[in-house]
Amino acid sequence: MTTLPTLLVRPMREAEIAIVADSIKEMSQAQIANRWREQLLGYREVLVAELDGAIVGTVSMGVVGGSEPTMHLFALEVAPEQRNRGIGSSIIDHVISEAQQRDCRSVYLEVRVDNPARRLYHRLGFRRVGPSFVNAWYQFNQDGTRTRIEEPSIRMVKRLASNKHPATRSKTKS
Ligand SMILES: CC(C)(COP(=O)(O)OP(=O)(O)OC[C@H]1O[C@@H](n2cnc3c(N)ncnc32)[C@H](O)[C@@H]1OP(=O)(O)O)[C@@H](O)C(=O)NCCC(=O)NCCS
Repeated sequence: MTTLPTLLVRPMREAEIAIVADSIKEMSQAQIANRWREQLLGYREVLVAELDGAIVGTVSMGVVGGSEPTMHLFALEVAPEQRNRGIGSSIIDHVISEAQQRDCRSVYLEVRVDNPARRLYHRLGFRRVGPSFVNAWYQFNQDGTRTRIEEPSIRMVKRLASNKHPATRSKTKS
């Protein structure tokens, strides 16, 4: 877990589903509940950022790949009234250090081509890879329906230096 001056990034608890939805506002409770279900199925880990006891952001992450594992960072959201204070950057830093601890060689994400968050990712060392593509996902609505969202997006990747001590690495190989 990362403890910045007063920001704590930690796993979300099931009892916090409604609180996260209330904080983020743009996301329904059904959407956050679906994230929780996907976590139970092993598709993601849902984290929250807590500032002075209040939940102010969330992110999901998951390690993919076998011999060259990479960390997928997605569903990053900060409460509207808390934006532009560095919270999003701190959440991303936390995911990067989690990736390093889990021996991932990179962190990647998908972002809408017109999302200003691209600047934030670039500032933190993420670089575009490949052509734009249509990212499709389901938005879960509070009335029990779901809406298929299709967003023109790009993938951005941040390469990580190996966290392993060279001596440890050669020992493992021998
Ligand atoms: C993207 C987001 C998580 C950033 O959180 P934050 O706490 O404001 O981030 P920081 O304060 O560390 O950095 C602010 C940066 O966000 C980006 N930003 C500014 N307005 C934005 C907006 N309306 N939407 C998305 N990103 C924005 C900018 O890059 C800004 O830095 P810059 O102006 O110096 O380039 C937040 O704006 C958000 O929740 N947006 C809506 C959901 C979203 O777009 N998530 C990303 C999906 S890939």
